[in-house]
Amino acid sequence: MKIRATDGKSLTSMHCGGAIAQLMEVESLPELIDLVGRLPDFHVLGGGTNTIFADAPTTTPVIKLGQAFDYLRLEGDRLYAGAACQLHAVLMFCRDSGLSGIEFLTGIPGTLGGALWMNAGTGDKGIMDVVETIDLVDAQGQHIIARAGIQAGYRRAEIPPRTIITGACLHLRPGDKDAIAAHINRYLERRRAQPKGYSSGCIFKNPLGTSAGMLIDQAGLKGTRIGEAYVSETHANFIINTGGATCADIQALIARIKAEVKARFGIDLEEEVRFLG
Ligand code: EPU
Repeated sequence: MKIRATDGKSLTSMHCGGAIAQLMEVESLPELIDLVGRLPDFHVLGGGTNTIFADAPTTTPVIKLGQAFDYLRLEGDRLYAGAACQLHAVLMFCRDSGLSGIEFLTGIPGTLGGALWMNAGTGDKGIMDVVETIDLVDAQGQHIIARAGIQAGYRRAEIPPRTIITGACLHLRPGDKDAIAAHINRYLERRRAQPKGYSSGCIFKNPLGTSAGMLIDQAGLKGTRIGEAYVSETHANFIINTGGATCADIQALIARIKAEVKARFGIDLEEEVRFLG
């Protein structure tokens, strides 16, 4: 296991946050089980694309899965994948193997583990829809849980606390490689229109039956800025860090957006990003 000091800025796509005393990169399953049994508290980080660290130092250890958890193994139309795999790599592997079912994940950054944890996807589909079993580690050891044993919904999978996702079996279906590639390209086109720059993707979940981006846009909040964080002009559900934004800037902007949307439409927006530290 490698343990080092780092900061939130280096670990997240939002590119902000203070010092992190201990980033623990775990290199094997026994090491992970031992660690989870020993640590009184910890955070788990996937690709850092949906996480924002506090400005104050984070003293709780942050666990990140190393290369031992970056594997892809195909058995017929079942793909056994490690939580540390980049989602994009999983998608490309499926395309090249002629397996269909996860094209909707195109363009979503981060790792498989992070995607499973929040049931990443589009408005109407989530990765948990294609999961057959999920591998979890807690202080007792590793458990392979059937999908039916996990409550999941829009951007939500109920993973018990102090439990780490180490991998999953995705049940896919054979498909024509060209058709899969074309499907992926259609999603890529949609994603290309999304804002560039330091961000965490969509900041808020879509409220039932409507779109957070549309509500924030209609509230006239595009371009609203606090410190070095502003609401994207391209897509109102993205907050962009111009480089020096603090976590406090982002939280203040979130509070302002929530208050404005509540006042205008009576709707409570709920964050999709998670704050740690
Ligand atoms: N809209 C506006 N103004 C804006 C942004 C959007 O009016 O500034 C309108 C659009 O015109 C459209 C509607 O809102 O009618 C929905 O917008 P969009 O198609 O961009 O989809 P979304 O619901 O905002 C969801 C996911 C995205 C994903 C896209 C495309 C959520 C919270 N977001 O966005 O996921 O990329 O669909 O599949 O579910 C993410 O989770 O980080 C993310 C970016």
